[in-house]
Amino acid sequence: MLRYLPVRRIHARQVLDSRGNPTVEVEATVGEGIVGIDGYTARAMVPSGASTGKFEAVELRDGEKDKYLGLGVKKAVANVNTKLAEAVLGENALNQSYIDHLLIQADGTDNKSSAGANATLGVSMAVARAAAMALRIPLYQYLGGCHTRKLPVPMMNILNGGKHADNTVDLQEFMIMPAGAGSFEDGIRICTEIYHFLKIILKEKKLSTAVGDEGGFAPDLADSKDVLELIVMAVERAGYEAGKEIVIAIDAAASELYDEERGVYYFPGESQMKGEDVFRDSREMIDYYEELLEKYPIVSIEDGLEEDDWEGWKIMTERLGGRIQLVGDDLFVTNKKRLGCGIRLNAANAILVKVNQIGTLSEAMEAVEMAQHAGYRAVISHRSGETEDAFISDLAVAVGAGQIKTGAPCRSDRNAKYNQLLRICENLGDLAVYENPFENPRK
Ligand code: PGA
Ligand code: ZN
Repeated sequence: MLRYLPVRRIHARQVLDSRGNPTVEVEATVGEGIVGIDGYTARAMVPSGASTGKFEAVELRDGEKDKYLGLGVKKAVANVNTKLAEAVLGENALNQSYIDHLLIQADGTDNKSSAGANATLGVSMAVARAAAMALRIPLYQYLGGCHTRKLPVPMMNILNGGKHADNTVDLQEFMIMPAGAGSFEDGIRICTEIYHFLKIILKEKKLSTAVGDEGGFAPDLADSKDVLELIVMAVERAGYEAGKEIVIAIDAAASELYDEERGVYYFPGESQMKGEDVFRDSREMIDYYEELLEKYPIVSIEDGLEEDDWEGWKIMTERLGGRIQLVGDDLFVTNKKRLGCGIRLNAANAILVKVNQIGTLSEAMEAVEMAQHAGYRAVISHRSGETEDAFISDLAVAVGAGQIKTGAPCRSDRNAKYNQLLRICENLGDLAVYENPFENPRK
């Protein structure tokens, strides 16, 4: 059995992400020089957020105003090519935890601010992918083991707002989930049909069909109820039943709405459309969600409150956590310390996992493990700035997350993930498991 697969070469370059911003791509070559083993080279690309949580690991940007508006990543690239490469060259690519430990050590800070989480993550993912290639097994199986066979239910963000679009919709993401579909493939088909019907309805209503960063439509609408009405209409027009085949998830991204000085949430779009300022405090936010879920088949709300409001999260979880999934994104930032805090306080009941929030694969996988042990669900997620890399599709299957959030069925940076899941589905054949994550609700 192959036990030692040395990392032979690490090379990074600057490429572009889906928003036209620079990002890091890393190539890792493993195995060269070992008798009976060829060299294997794999590459990985790093995503990037817009509504970034303030406790996320640091994404290193060059800040040179005359190049890419300061968003270049040449420093992160240089860090990969020097100190991170030095740290892992000759080390065993089959020991991902140790590789990641070396990257964390080479960075030497709590939040990856020295090397950059965009630098460490690129190496971490490229090494994992090269190791899987050398073993000639699919990435999801390498990361998850031989019993891995659970496909995630997609959370498809078909209507964009907040920081991801220039429209008047204040909550960031309105997603459909084919939780009642018979298979992953059917789920993709059903959601895509609904997406197309939503476009037809928007056109009929003379609303914009331009899309936001994650491929969802971004029309100007007065408030969330208008959005939800349109979505239910699209579901029905496509021939499905909202609440049966399709349920709805929201990412409020409330940290973006929070006015720290006044201690309330400000809704700029709703204010503009209604001609008066709309504010909600923490309790009113929860009332607002309660009202929405009474009317619409909502099963999940992400970042319903801002990232520092532990007390509010506790209350929200007490009030809504028995009925729906409450996902912590900016709240937990894929960080075990913050998740541990949430578990102790009984705040939220699920974690959103974004690999670049923490900066290594092992740390992200440990966060999933911690969540699952505590009875929290985990949702593997893309970023609003993405690439053609579909690593998270394999990761979602590997950890058996049961849910993946990766945008609308539109734009190849998003469809790359769905297409990879379709490949995995085919690869698993009859063994593929697809189940409604909300059927046996856990607290
Ligand atoms: P981001 O948005 O990638 O811009 O942070 C995604 C999210 O908030 O879930
Ligand atoms: Zn979010």
